[in-house]
Amino acid sequence: MGIPFFATYALLFASSVWSAAVHTPLPQLRPLVIWHGMGDTYDAPGILEFIQEVQDMHPGIFVHSIYLQEASDEDRKAGYFGNVNEQVEFVAKQLNNITELQHGFDAMGFSQGGQFLRAYVERSNSPPVNNLITFGAQHMGVSDLPACKPYDITCQLARRATRNGVYTEWAQANVVQAQYYRDADQLPRYLERNHFLPSINNEVDDDVNATYASNLEALNKLVLVMFAKDTMVVPKESSWFGSYAPADDALAPAKTIIPMRLQPLYTQNRIGLRTLDDRGDLILTTCDGAHMQLSDGCWKPLAQEYTGGVIHLSQSKYVLQVQ
Ligand SMILES: *[C@@H]1O[C@H](CO)[C@@H](O)[C@H](O)[C@H]1NC(C)=O
Ligand SMILES: *[C@@H]1O[C@H](CO)[C@@H](O)[C@H](O)[C@H]1NC(C)=O
Repeated sequence: MGIPFFATYALLFASSVWSAAVHTPLPQLRPLVIWHGMGDTYDAPGILEFIQEVQDMHPGIFVHSIYLQEASDEDRKAGYFGNVNEQVEFVAKQLNNITELQHGFDAMGFSQGGQFLRAYVERSNSPPVNNLITFGAQHMGVSDLPACKPYDITCQLARRATRNGVYTEWAQANVVQAQYYRDADQLPRYLERNHFLPSINNEVDDDVNATYASNLEALNKLVLVMFAKDTMVVPKESSWFGSYAPADDALAPAKTIIPMRLQPLYTQNRIGLRTLDDRGDLILTTCDGAHMQLSDGCWKPLAQEYTGGVIHLSQSKYVLQVQ
């Protein structure tokens, strides 16, 4: 009995290098958090299958699927009805409460989950996001509803009603899509009545929050995926921070796309996009196909490159503890 004991004793105290090796945990993969899109639920079969495929790609990775309600039906409903500012706050508490995420994580947002995760980064980011990948997000909102077929009167009426009612107090506190509806024809009303998108985009001149930019700049990479044949997101360039020109822009005919690098929020660096871009850490990429058509060729190369990295927990911490 004595010999193994002394042998062990000797090994442990032989050098701090060895003790560091003994105490250092195995390489740990950076966890992934996903936020599903409208009409989906956190535990929908498609989401669970996606998580499984990520785990096949990165064995051992911890994946968390964000929920607003634990009951699936209620979670789906919360994608349509609710106050987005409150939802983002709820999610910040949820993520802060998960031990596996405490050293940070990568995040993937599907459709509206993309701009909601960006709101999390800008407003909380505790624990911090490393890479944020958004698929078909509405970063500059939606300016219209998907086009109606020529003689579809019901569709036309519904669109008109939505456009007229979108900036009422009730819609802005209760209808999720209204809280990222950015009507190029009514920008002053949008800026005044909408309390979500103009806030996270720092678009209101006398209400710019510098923390939003410093938090977004703390990302390692921001990857913005646009779907080439997207007809759900109008305009689809919103996924890349593009929007229609404002109605009062005399130089731009209606429906001209103002690309990200010409947007005031970019040129004035209001949320840190220009910093990320200058650093080479803002990646604009396209997937073929319609909105959220996540073919393997679309998401797998991105998941390979931007998720599943090894977290290097500080070894010096362990050496110091042993010494
Ligand atoms: C935090 O986690 C505990 C245990 O999992 C849970 O009971 C509690 O409701 C969570 N709190 C929040 C704010 O998510
Ligand atoms: C700016 O945002 C941070 C992070 O969400 C928040 O703590 C702070 O209160 C905000 N500042 C103002 C003036 O609203």
